[in-house]
Amino acid sequence: MKKNETIGDPKFATKTTAQDAPALNGLFKDAIADLYWAENHLVKALPKMISAATAPELKNAIESHLEETKVHVTRLEQVFELLGEKAIAKKCDAMEGITKEAEGIVEETEPGTATRDVGIILASQKVEHYEIASYGGLYQLATTLGLTDIADILAQTLAEEKLADSKLTDIAENEINYKAAEEA
Ligand SMILES: [Fe+2]
Ligand SMILES: [Fe+2]
Repeated sequence: MKKNETIGDPKFATKTTAQDAPALNGLFKDAIADLYWAENHLVKALPKMISAATAPELKNAIESHLEETKVHVTRLEQVFELLGEKAIAKKCDAMEGITKEAEGIVEETEPGTATRDVGIILASQKVEHYEIASYGGLYQLATTLGLTDIADILAQTLAEEKLADSKLTDIAENEINYKAAEEA
């Protein structure tokens, strides 16, 4: 199914490949709809994590990733447009579960503690890793399907998810984990 790799073929070869692999295309669209639900859900869930966090560097990191997350939503809308589909979200059970777990951590920890911040970092990194897995896999699949424009869009978000994850690691390693270890 690598017709579009022939020299001279158009860069954007969705229609050809969609006919070639309808089942795989269907799976791809479903996964995009799932991710669209997840990103929209995060736009609502991240503000709760920001207000529950204490360390300014953690609050700032989640705040700036919230702004990026809003862009992730609009990028997925561009993907739907390129696919010639309406942007429809399909409930993502995994992301619902991860954010529920995050809310549970907030409920079970004391406000204003570094321990709560550590919990928020752990939960947030699970979110980022889910997104990295999803965008990484879908980037590969878009490439396989010859959806070059879509692969480029997914790669932009993938890079931001990876950066958000490593920023959280830095915050944990440089300060918050030590502070929390000193708490009773
Ligand atoms: Fe995202
Ligand atoms: Fe993210």
